Amino acid sequence: MALNKILLFSLTFQLVSLLLRVSSESPWITGDVTQTPMKYLELARSPEVFDSMVRIRRKIHENPELGYEEFETSKLIRSELDLIGVKYRYPVAITGVIGYIGSGEPPFVALRADMDALPIQEAVEWEHRSKIPGKMHACGHDGHVAMLLGAAKILQKHRHDLQGTVVLIFQPAEEGLRGAKKMIEEGALKNVEAIFGIHLTNRIPFGKVASRAGPMLAGAGFFEAVITGKGGHAAIPQHTIDPVVAASSIVLSLQHLVSRETDPLDSKVVTVSKVLGGNAFNVIPDSITIGGTLRAFTGFSQLQQRIKEVITKQATVHRCNASVNLTPDGKEPLPPTVNDIDLYKQYKKVVRDLLGQEAVEEAQPLMGSEDFSKFAEVIPGHFSFLGMQDETKGYASSHSPLYRVNEDVLPYGAAIHASMAVQYLKEKASKGSISGFHDEL
Ligand SMILES: *[C@@H]1O[C@H](CO)[C@@H](O)[C@H](O)[C@H]1NC(C)=O
Ligand SMILES: [Zn+2]
Ligand SMILES: [Zn+2]
Repeated sequence: MALNKILLFSLTFQLVSLLLRVSSESPWITGDVTQTPMKYLELARSPEVFDSMVRIRRKIHENPELGYEEFETSKLIRSELDLIGVKYRYPVAITGVIGYIGSGEPPFVALRADMDALPIQEAVEWEHRSKIPGKMHACGHDGHVAMLLGAAKILQKHRHDLQGTVVLIFQPAEEGLRGAKKMIEEGALKNVEAIFGIHLTNRIPFGKVASRAGPMLAGAGFFEAVITGKGGHAAIPQHTIDPVVAASSIVLSLQHLVSRETDPLDSKVVTVSKVLGGNAFNVIPDSITIGGTLRAFTGFSQLQQRIKEVITKQATVHRCNASVNLTPDGKEPLPPTVNDIDLYKQYKKVVRDLLGQEAVEEAQPLMGSEDFSKFAEVIPGHFSFLGMQDETKGYASSHSPLYRVNEDVLPYGAAIHASMAVQYLKEKASKGSISGFHDEL
């Protein structure tokens, strides 16, 4: 009995001291910077912010617009910004919008969302499916816009705490049409010191994030070549110069650029994805057009030059001529997406405070690409993935007609956006640089 009492007393004592210790360390009381993410997540989950994000996302989903045609999406963004009293610049890069929250003074830190949809026919049967035949938000950009507007609401509510200015970049035409480049050309990054981007993904579980320091997504380029010979009767090949055989040889030779000329530990891709030409069984055509893509983290322009060389020289072997275009349809190459190490450390800290240590996954580099890389080429940037996979639902991957966004993830995106901006400005104000994150790992 006595022993029990002592045990009980000691247990109570420990419990009380534990509580005291917890409360004295509690971010809510000490004003530690870690209070920000939790406070923001709570706000992001409140009906006021969450419901509006869902409403906005569904509205954009119903009316998908392709690159540089995001007029209604842009209008919706502007009316939402008007509603909360956020000033903005418009138009930037045709449909782009840039909002400003905070002191209006430096430092400036940017958050980015892309607005465009894809030429895909939605195959998901649900209440808010695309109303436009052949167009669909199948990459989650509708969710990206909603999350950034959610962050805008949170930041605007706390605008007096901002030690600088948050720049909200709503960019057009991420999917292959170089919207980021056009935004930069029209001054989107003027005075901006750092930029953050988030991409939704069904490749990782709900509520987890993936990122890495350094190169995360590959640089991407395209090529198209016309191989010209001399057409004629398929049964009398000696009177023709056959571009089909030349093209076949070129397609095979291109495979050796990666397998024989590239360090096996340095990932590169050369894919011929397009072969066009000929339309009869008994006619050798005059020409064949081939096209494809290259992906690389390093040695990008050397690889481009070798592709050009292999195509033209192999054509010569077969008595054909070839002309090579490295920017077909104006598709300029994209650099790799490279995350700044200090911003990555800040990101890990913010997400750890928000979602817990186990939420942060180390991303493997991907051969896919993102035009966020154009921003991160100019100023330090950080791009990350926010997972929304639900095992019971098995969401399809991006660019699939069966792609779906798990809307429950929107508050995480909004809170991460807002916290990253605030944290950046705080660190900047207290240290004059963000090098202070070094000891946080
Ligand atoms: C290739 O180009 C050369 C030089 O212009 C020309 O003389 C030749 O006829 C061309 N060959 C073919 C197969 O088009
Ligand atoms: Zn996409
Ligand atoms: Zn995308």
